[in-house]
Amino acid sequence: MKILVIGSGGREHALAWRLIQSPRASKVFVSPGNAGTSLEDGIENVPLSEIDDLIDFVISEKIDMTIVGPEAPLSEGIVDAFKARELMIFGPVAAAAQLESSKDFAKQFMADHDIPTAEYSTFTAPTEAHKYISAKGAPIVVKADGLAAGKGVVVAMTEQEAHEAVDMMLVDNGMGVAGAKVVIEEFLIGEEASFIVMIDGEHILPLATSQDHKRLLNNDKGPNTGGMGAYSPAPIVTPELHDKAMKDVIEPVLNGMKEAGTPFIGFLYAGLMIAPDQTMKVLEFNCRLGDPETQPIMMRLKSDLVTLVEHALTGTLNEVEPNWDQRTALGVVLAAKGYPQSPRKGDIITIPPKDNADVHVFHAGTALIDDQLVTSGGRVLCVTAIGDNAIQARELALEASNRISFADKQYRTDIGYRVIKN
Ligand code: AMP
Ligand code: GLY
Repeated sequence: MKILVIGSGGREHALAWRLIQSPRASKVFVSPGNAGTSLEDGIENVPLSEIDDLIDFVISEKIDMTIVGPEAPLSEGIVDAFKARELMIFGPVAAAAQLESSKDFAKQFMADHDIPTAEYSTFTAPTEAHKYISAKGAPIVVKADGLAAGKGVVVAMTEQEAHEAVDMMLVDNGMGVAGAKVVIEEFLIGEEASFIVMIDGEHILPLATSQDHKRLLNNDKGPNTGGMGAYSPAPIVTPELHDKAMKDVIEPVLNGMKEAGTPFIGFLYAGLMIAPDQTMKVLEFNCRLGDPETQPIMMRLKSDLVTLVEHALTGTLNEVEPNWDQRTALGVVLAAKGYPQSPRKGDIITIPPKDNADVHVFHAGTALIDDQLVTSGGRVLCVTAIGDNAIQARELALEASNRISFADKQYRTDIGYRVIKN
């Protein structure tokens, strides 16, 4: 089978790496991909970005299935366009992808279907938003309605910060159209977990649980990022919480989307906040896999990913059960100088040859320029390792990270601290 993966991050490298290991995969294309995907045996990059060009490529190359990595093409309707041509593609149609592309849509959907989430209100008028903040007080959370590549959320610890966020988004247009509408919601306390499933429109297949680390620096200090590291499994998601997430969150999405006439097909990621009393609320939905969560999840997946996606595309996910490596996988993101504000590009990267099957270096912001590997984005690499426990996996990942060099690389040394009690 020939498979196309859309995207260029660490998530897509991990997906392509797992897919090409399938005895059923003859070739995996990644569009546009990164230096890491171009260096893997059996994987080839295709430098396309327009939906029409991708469709032409899939038809002329006789690609059997396409898997969409990031949210932007989903919200632009790539799945709708492929389906109109009867091409096999895994991801939600744009109407269903609004669960991620509009926070207001997601909140309204959750309210309509009794999915637990933070109390909220939506505004386009700054005066009303300011009034709401003054009435509710801080801490409070201000979110741009639209897609903002992880930069649209301000967790305001003071009322002033919240007022400033509203002015930045609604008055100064600081987030563009994404911030022309804002959701303001109650600040939630607890521990976050990433609950990711595959849905075929009718059935749900939960993937292994995981936890991400959003802040740039050790001890959860510094600015929010797309994610500086992740591990799987996440023991905080006990069997009881797992059942609750399925019944109270994922099943209502499946049923609600079916009722709306836009059945959800694709990866669904619920960002959960688990409070100390074990109650759970949804922070956000993503209509895709997480990055960097995918890297450790793919390291643990023992089942054939091609077969799983095929079941998802034929509405038979109820017939499969994925097999997971019982060990812990943990990924450490190496980021460029200046990330997340303004990452520097063009630094030379040196990676020693792979010498351990339990460690894999997934690329994200990398490029090959005249055969030289250089940084080309904020999150550069995700060094992912699997070990008997999180301590061992982290040791392996950090040891490999230390042997990789590029100027001013930034990384956290405490990934997994919640499960590694020192
Ligand atoms: P989101 O993109 O909505 O998941 O928000 C990004 C990050 O902001 C989350 O991963 C949380 O760390 C934080 N966050 C979002 N909403 C809330 C909330 N209601 N209370 C506390 N923290 C939040
Ligand atoms: N790691 C968080 C995300 O993928 O949204």
